[in-house]
Amino acid sequence: MASAPVEVFAVCSANAIERSGARSFSLSRIDESGEARPFPIVVVRSHRDEYVGYVNSCPHSGVWLNIGSGDFFTADRAFLRCGRHGAAFEIESGLCIQGPCEGKSLQPIALAVVDGEVCLCGVDLVEEAPPNPFADDAEETMDIMIHPE
Ligand code: FES
Repeated sequence: MASAPVEVFAVCSANAIERSGARSFSLSRIDESGEARPFPIVVVRSHRDEYVGYVNSCPHSGVWLNIGSGDFFTADRAFLRCGRHGAAFEIESGLCIQGPCEGKSLQPIALAVVDGEVCLCGVDLVEEAPPNPFADDAEETMDIMIHPE
């Protein structure tokens, strides 16, 4: 069966992320040329119990925010922070308020909580791998991986 773009994509159970916590996911998305590209994201559940999502890429040099320790937050957990050079970002806006990329923002991702699931909206994700003539199990190949903590 051919790959089909999806409009809404359940990423995880809303309860799988604790309040003031975050989880990262390595997804694949379809770019403008129709190619599958890595799409690392982070989903944050704020202390106000809102879910926000960003591309997990620091605007300074593009590394995962949780590079190094694996943590996404400043010590007081008031801001997201980049593990490489310590840039701090507002959790609910993604704006960098301190660090080498001050004034720039994380790339936001539209999220919705539907039936207790955190869902991505409006992103063409790779839900199935392209047909592989050498594989006979190319049926369930959704590419979701949680980074090791
Ligand atoms: S790579 Fe994130 S602050 Fe430098």
